[in-house]
Amino acid sequence: MSTVQIVYGSTTGNTEALAELIGRLVREAGHEVRVLNAADATAPGLCDGWDLSLFGCSAWGDEEVTLQDDFDALFQQFDRINAKNRKVAAFATGDTNFTYFCGSADVIEERLEELGADVVADALKIEGAPQSDQPEVLEWTRQVLETI
Ligand SMILES: Cc1cc2nc3c(=O)[nH]c(=O)nc-3n(C[C@H](O)[C@H](O)[C@H](O)COP(=O)(O)O)c2cc1C
Repeated sequence: MSTVQIVYGSTTGNTEALAELIGRLVREAGHEVRVLNAADATAPGLCDGWDLSLFGCSAWGDEEVTLQDDFDALFQQFDRINAKNRKVAAFATGDTNFTYFCGSADVIEERLEELGADVVADALKIEGAPQSDQPEVLEWTRQVLETI
């Protein structure tokens, strides 16, 4: 059994629903899981003690990518989460009508790479609210869990 944390920022509930769905799948795979709202997270040592950390955030803005407010506050202190050499991956929900579909996940992934994290999968990008047992979510979760 491994330990997996899922930290998300969500304004209208779509990314929260995706975080909870991934959390359920991780739990069903037999791992210990924590699903944490970014609003309740503190940056120092956030990745300590977790075999895998998954970061989810919705995309806002238009001409440029803006992170969801609660996640953005955490993101400002990302250099303190101890991401170096940790297994991580990013996910987002968004809307394909915008220029940067789920651009938040790309921004987070890039920052994690800068911090020396081990990004174990390309970001998961979901349109709107996830459906329960949506195949892309099942496949992505299976893929990230294979790395721990
Ligand atoms: C003002 C505004 C800006 C948005 N900008 C983007 C964007 O740049 N890229 C994107 O993929 N979705 C964008 N969206 C869509 C939201 O990210 C999408 O509805 C998301 O699922 C909301 O997730 P949440 O409920 O977890 O906050 C935008 C929505 C609004 C209202």
